[in-house]
Amino acid sequence: MSRKLIVGNWKMNGSLASNDALVRELLEGIGQPACDVALCPPGIYVAQLQNLLAGSPIELGVQNVSMNENGAYTGDVSAEMLKDYGVRYAIVGHSERRQHQAENDVHVALKAKRALAAGITPIVCVGETLRERESGMTEFIVKRQLSAVIHLNGHCISEIVVAYEPVWAIGTGQTATPLQAQNVHAVLRAQIKAATEHADRVRILYGGSMNAANAGELLSQPDIDGGLIGGASLKSADFLKIIAAAR
Ligand code: G3P
Repeated sequence: MSRKLIVGNWKMNGSLASNDALVRELLEGIGQPACDVALCPPGIYVAQLQNLLAGSPIELGVQNVSMNENGAYTGDVSAEMLKDYGVRYAIVGHSERRQHQAENDVHVALKAKRALAAGITPIVCVGETLRERESGMTEFIVKRQLSAVIHLNGHCISEIVVAYEPVWAIGTGQTATPLQAQNVHAVLRAQIKAATEHADRVRILYGGSMNAANAGELLSQPDIDGGLIGGASLKSADFLKIIAAAR
């Protein structure tokens, strides 16, 4: 299995000045991490982060990518364009985009396809709402969401990263217990193993109120290969503690 991966999803936060300060604090404290690390700023700051991260152990990611190739798609940014800025990862299918931008499983599968075609690693987000969990639908939902990506991308599935983000844990402070998270990660691992002989290359991250206090126990679970971090990635000390816990 590859090294663990810790990704900071800044969501729609930041400014040129605050980004500069945060990244400099991270670079001062990160040393040589035992895990892979990436930051996903809002797309408008990709050029700034490319410059700030150049030569550092932190890779650059984005929070979205167009499901189309270059052309008449006003407001979109293509995977090919992101390669101009050395982008390594692209979050696709985040629950907040599924909710607010009406992205569905087909859209997410196409986004993953475009990213893979450009040599960018898609971080495919899956996760259930509280109502779906309380209805016993968790396994059905996450397998349905991932199967759309597997169906469209076939053998390339070994090149993706998956992020299990229970919607009810995002931004709420109500983190899934290590057992809850591990149980779903094990389901996703089995689904990936059935889809590719290179399943060991696919890292499954947990996201949803992971923080400096709970990261160690979550990351010690056998099928949790890293974290997709929202709020805690905006605070250098907290994000550095999560990185230190990922070994
Ligand atoms: O993509 C990661 C994000 O959804 C998790 O947010 O603030 O609960 O860590 P947060």
